[in-house]
Amino acid sequence: MTTLSLAPADDSAGRAQARSAELETEIARCPERFRVLTGDRPTGPLHLGHLFGTLANRVRLQQAGIEVLVLVADYQVITDRDDLGDLPSTVTELLLDQLAAGLDPERTTFFRHSAVPALNQLLLPFLSLVSVAELQRNPTVKAELDATGQRPMSGLMLTYPVHQAADILSVGGNLVPVGRDQLPHLELTRTIARRFDQRYGPTFAEPDALLSEAPLLLGTDGTKMSKSRGNAIALRDDEDRTAALLRRATTDAERTISYEPARRPAVSNLVLLGALCRGEDPQAFAAGIGDRGAAALKAAVTEAVNEHLRPLRRRRAELAADPGIVPEVLARGNAHADELADATLARVRTAMQMD
Ligand code: TRP
Repeated sequence: MTTLSLAPADDSAGRAQARSAELETEIARCPERFRVLTGDRPTGPLHLGHLFGTLANRVRLQQAGIEVLVLVADYQVITDRDDLGDLPSTVTELLLDQLAAGLDPERTTFFRHSAVPALNQLLLPFLSLVSVAELQRNPTVKAELDATGQRPMSGLMLTYPVHQAADILSVGGNLVPVGRDQLPHLELTRTIARRFDQRYGPTFAEPDALLSEAPLLLGTDGTKMSKSRGNAIALRDDEDRTAALLRRATTDAERTISYEPARRPAVSNLVLLGALCRGEDPQAFAAGIGDRGAAALKAAVTEAVNEHLRPLRRRRAELAADPGIVPEVLARGNAHADELADATLARVRTAMQMD
């Protein structure tokens, strides 16, 4: 069943990969042609998986001179849960993580769903452009539904890919960095843009997916890294907590440390983590430990992680010490996104003869 639903995604992944290579060339040549839209659900602190995956890529695109918009997808929190948690503090922590990781609010716009009414209003015409059957076929929605167990699917869960189309198109994002699992969403955004234009005249450009080849970091227990599993090193964790998590990390009984992800997933994951932090090749990092065993590996990884995160954590503490920074950054970002989305909605209403 899984293979069935993954088969079409794999084909489009191949195409997206080729297209991404072209896009990278174009980014280097002409960064001002692009506007990146990306985002996160504010559900918890960011961890090392986010840092080496999405955050590093966002910083890279920002440094390349591209306009980057980062959405705090607060309405998306309630796709699969009733409880928003302590949303104000989750949002603050999310912003601090990203600012500390090197996203510069002078160059990167941070904004929230809930602060940009025109974005959400686009959901109405967009919903008319897709069929329920299409939404039910979305492999990512299916996978997320499976992950939430027996919980019945909410209307928002079924339609959140359409909301993501509104996220992207409302602010004129034309480049969306995604992992493979989010490719079907981007495909749907392109479909919606195309169908809108067919019905109402040229209004939207179809955005491109930028597939990022993020290293797959597992948690300290060798399974998918996730805060809820207690196996993730959060950026905001202190050095002692980091050391404690790594001391408990899963290893195996072989004394000689090697990098063999298929045969030794847990040990290789620790090796990869240490190597990423040191900017080294995993084989070289493993060879550096040699036959000194798991305890030496954990000690080396702990040192590498804490050293790598030290400047980020210091910046984070400085930013957190001024409670005015995050609200200010968000207010400015919200205002900018609001302006972009208002202009888009105005064009949509004109196209639909609703102005
Ligand atoms: N679904 C994304 C996540 O869970 C967050 C998100 C919301 C997003 N809207 C988006 C990502 C638009 C890219 C583009 O991380």
